[in-house]
Amino acid sequence: MPAIIADNSGKILRASAGLRELTGYCSRELSRMPLGLIAGDGRPFPEGVSETWLFTKDGGKVLVRACASSSSGAVLIIFHPLEREKELADSLVAARAELTTRQRYLEDFREGVFRMISDLDRSESELKGALQKLSETQMQLMQSSKMTALGELAASLAHEVAQPLTVIRGVSQGMLRSMTAGEAGALAFEKVNLISEAARKMEAIVKHLRVFTRVTPPAFEPVDLNSVVRDAFLILKEMLIAHSIDTVIDLAPVPGIAGNQTRLEQVIINLVTNARDAMPDGGVLKVMSLTSERDGKRYAVLTVEDTGTGIPREIIDRIFDPFVTTKEAGKGTGLGLSITAGIVKEHRGYIKVESDPHGTAFHVFIPALEKC
Ligand SMILES: Nc1ncnc2c1ncn2[C@@H]1O[C@H](COP(=O)(O)OP(=O)(O)OP(=O)(O)O)[C@@H](O)[C@H]1O
Ligand SMILES: [Mg+2]
Repeated sequence: MPAIIADNSGKILRASAGLRELTGYCSRELSRMPLGLIAGDGRPFPEGVSETWLFTKDGGKVLVRACASSSSGAVLIIFHPLEREKELADSLVAARAELTTRQRYLEDFREGVFRMISDLDRSESELKGALQKLSETQMQLMQSSKMTALGELAASLAHEVAQPLTVIRGVSQGMLRSMTAGEAGALAFEKVNLISEAARKMEAIVKHLRVFTRVTPPAFEPVDLNSVVRDAFLILKEMLIAHSIDTVIDLAPVPGIAGNQTRLEQVIINLVTNARDAMPDGGVLKVMSLTSERDGKRYAVLTVEDTGTGIPREIIDRIFDPFVTTKEAGKGTGLGLSITAGIVKEHRGYIKVESDPHGTAFHVFIPALEKC
């Protein structure tokens, strides 16, 4: 630290190493040097704190804050170079700025880490979702290979059973005809009638199975959905009247579709038959067509709506799976809707269902035929 001890006459008695270093003078040169030659303006040095100059040996000067105190005939003056203070202040400011930068960097870093953690969380949940999807797909694959095996089994079964069934049905009907002519008792008639009826139901199952297990895709051609509806109702009309069902057909012009008339008729027959079964005491059946546009694609839409009992909640997610039925044995095979879904899929369409205890509506969307 630069400091001087001077006597009352203002002569330097001792100078610290800090002062020697600052001024460039050696101890000998400083000894007895008048204070005015090295500090201040020649006047007696003021007590207390003041700002003044320190003169260096090489003719320079340093601005200092001098702190003088006298005691027992000597004066002690300690000098604080203001330049160094400024330097210190500057470096303090720089250090503070550095600290702020570091703090900001730390905050950015902390934020980055948080972001990374939340990204990791998100990726983890995305991964979980993907895994879930993967296992679902795996399940579907297993399901579909099971279904293929089941389909092959069903196809050969249908083939094997069809022939003897035709025989049973033909013979029992022949017997019935001769019996009505009075050749046998009422009991026998009833029994043969039972055989004939059972064979008819089995034939219906076999017919379903054949459609269900068809391997080769049907021929597609431009089809008007509305004329498919009209043709299907030629068959369905009487049956609906017999079940006290009022039918409302409301067909709007729809775009042509690429399809197979017979297969599409099957869709309508299956949906209408289900609607009939859902209205055992009669009701209203509405069949509508309209054009719909979704995701920039045009669709011909067919709606089959009934005022029936609605689809039971416990099976609504599975109604398109084969063999799902709520009908008593012999009345339903549970294949109708799975066949329907298969046909709609062949036509690159999809089905939507709305159902509550007051009725059900099936909406079948088939993409419009693209113009070349
Ligand atoms: N319109 C409807 N209203 C109420 N329930 C329905 C309707 N359509 C289908 N379901 C329910 O979905 C089940 C499955 O229908 P699906 O057509 O596949 O088989 P099914 O009618 O039982 O038998 P199948 O059509 O093979 O003779 C039905 O048993 C019935 O419970
Ligand atoms: Mg059905």
